[in-house]
Amino acid sequence: MTNNKIYFIANWKMNAYSSLINRLNKVINLSKKKKFKKAGIIYCPPFTLLEQFVKISKRGNIDVGAQDCFYESGFGPYTGNVSTKMIKLTGARYIILGHSEKRTIGDNNNIINKKIKSSINEKLKIIFCIGESYKEKKQKKTYQVIKNQIIHGLKNIKKYNDIIIAYEPVWSIGTGLMPKNYEIFQKIDFIKTILRKKFKFNTPKVIYGGSVNSKNINNLKKIKNVDGFLIGGASLNQNKFIDIVKKTII
Ligand code: 13P
Repeated sequence: MTNNKIYFIANWKMNAYSSLINRLNKVINLSKKKKFKKAGIIYCPPFTLLEQFVKISKRGNIDVGAQDCFYESGFGPYTGNVSTKMIKLTGARYIILGHSEKRTIGDNNNIINKKIKSSINEKLKIIFCIGESYKEKKQKKTYQVIKNQIIHGLKNIKKYNDIIIAYEPVWSIGTGLMPKNYEIFQKIDFIKTILRKKFKFNTPKVIYGGSVNSKNINNLKKIKNVDGFLIGGASLNQNKFIDIVKKTII
């Protein structure tokens, strides 16, 4: 881990029903403890729960984010879509963009770039996901793919420090498969160098996502340049999520 703030970002994906919200109580209590001040806990529920989450988050030291947005800004005749302005109005402060589960159903680098710009206009803090597929990994194209995703996704954006990059190898999401620590270290180092050199970020923040759980966290936290974790499945279970935070910050 780095010595900076450590992010624990819960991506709830397409999971939302009222009783799930009650699972937040223990996390709220934990977030208030001095020991965990360093933890940046961010919950990203589906749109339907954003306002409720924002209300609950005020009881503790946690933040709330959306999982996506439409690429057009403001309001307008776009049936079924949600803009960054609407997200901002819920009180959420973060947004996940470029997740592979959105890329596989149509989001390309150009669309993601528009979404990032729209989010910057609303001063949302961005969690920008990148990562290679299994096929790309096998073809040894990982560095080329993630560089391309960053360069095109952040086109014409400079010095916007409120972007956290989430390196999520697609083949690791929900599979239990995971790169070795040194492989994650190398990718994070590569990403941070691009952000510093090409985009003038002062302190680039890069987190890891893909099958993070309360069992492998003790090993993952040894990675020296990682700024935190983006957690899917394990974040739906309050105890497991807390376990991840506690094991990281001891
Ligand atoms: P899992 O933690 O379930 O592998 O999901 C990772 C992810 O996609 C987070 O955005």
